[in-house]
Amino acid sequence: MAGDFDTIVNLAKRRGFVFQASEIYGGLRSAYDYGPLGVELLRNVKEQWWHSTVRMRDDVVGIDSAILQSPEVWVASGHLASFTDPLVECRECNSRHRLDKLDDPNTCPTCGNSGTFTEPREFNLMFKTHMGPIESEDNVVYLRPETAQGIFTNFENVRRTARMKLPFGIAQIGKSFRNEITPGQFVFRTREFEQMEMEYFCHPDDAAEKFKEWTEIRKNWYIDLGMSMENLRFREHEDDELAHYATAGGGTFDVEYRFPWGWDELEGVANRTDYDLKAHIAHSGEDLSYFDPETNERFIPYVIEPAAGATRTTFAFLLDAYFEEEVNGEQRTVLKLDPRLSPIKVAILPLSKKPELVEVTQQVADALRPRWAIEVDVTQSIGRRYRRQDEIGTPFCVTVDFDSLDDAQVTVRDRDTMAQDRIPIDNLVSYLGDRLGF
Ligand code: GAP
Repeated sequence: MAGDFDTIVNLAKRRGFVFQASEIYGGLRSAYDYGPLGVELLRNVKEQWWHSTVRMRDDVVGIDSAILQSPEVWVASGHLASFTDPLVECRECNSRHRLDKLDDPNTCPTCGNSGTFTEPREFNLMFKTHMGPIESEDNVVYLRPETAQGIFTNFENVRRTARMKLPFGIAQIGKSFRNEITPGQFVFRTREFEQMEMEYFCHPDDAAEKFKEWTEIRKNWYIDLGMSMENLRFREHEDDELAHYATAGGGTFDVEYRFPWGWDELEGVANRTDYDLKAHIAHSGEDLSYFDPETNERFIPYVIEPAAGATRTTFAFLLDAYFEEEVNGEQRTVLKLDPRLSPIKVAILPLSKKPELVEVTQQVADALRPRWAIEVDVTQSIGRRYRRQDEIGTPFCVTVDFDSLDDAQVTVRDRDTMAQDRIPIDNLVSYLGDRLGF
């Protein structure tokens, strides 16, 4: 089971995962702030991606490039000329739409009128601003619309300094900005969002094989983190959907999630060919070719790019983990998040606020805190506190009761099975470590 849209948006706001940005001023459309639980969940998603993509491999290194780059980067990459969506406006109600996203290209989904759209106009999605105190055309810079270009422009810096040999990848996580015509569906499509991208450079002859390898690796990442197979779909792009850089014979493979409104993209794996490096060579005059000392061959590498959205994927994990269950005649809501993603790993719940229990609670908290994100909750009945932790996906609750004062043991409750174990406080870290697996 997965949550429906309103339930998850409501939970996200109520429990402090995601807030509307500038809420006290009426909110800024399409901008969101991540609250105490949301920031942990988002960080965990990014951490899992970084761990498997960079840390666990010796052929991928990381980078963190600037959001503001020389405008020449975007001329070379083709974004200033071609990073556009077809915009139509309804003459009747003045609403604006992306033509390629309309179910019916003639009928306005806002007012229902037919034949009222203006001719489509290509609208560039780049966010513009000015660098320095003077607002002139000479000072225009753009917020990056993808993290990828900061990788291409540093290809030679990274290859040389990290002494990388082909095939190798450069990974980056960071914010990107697009002036989307129709942002919406909560954090699914926003104008400011976070991406997790990796450019894998290889010999042109190896590109097809590497493309296959990375589609498998990326599929398995979602499955390994517990996303349910029935809500995942993997799909090759149709030719008319290809991005401007992927039209040169490459291809794109999508990871899609069954969102409440239907199947939609989480990630694209693209064969970008040598499009970007060639473009930067032509535009900058720098030599970004690769020399293979073993074969004495000089060539421009091809690039396989898995590009995922961190914020969008976080939303999908939240939807996917949501379950409502009946237990002993009572309803419980539980986020069955993989423990690696759970914002809080262990909640420590003293049965009462009596000082002697609080003292033991503190000792338990001190023992766990260096290792995991924990929360101490002393309010309300124990049943309510369990339900609060279930609702935010906490895998384990540790209850400190009056017996703990005598036997130095605590009760550990498992989120999914709700089974309870009595564990000596001295063994708690290893008990939880075994079950969490980290
Ligand atoms: N470098 C390639 C690239 O940027 P993309 O398919 O345009 O490819 C990659 O973006 C991923 O970034 C998407 O699959 C999606 O998860 C995320 N993304 C793109 N636009 C977004 C938006 N407006 N809001 C949230 N996430 C977005």
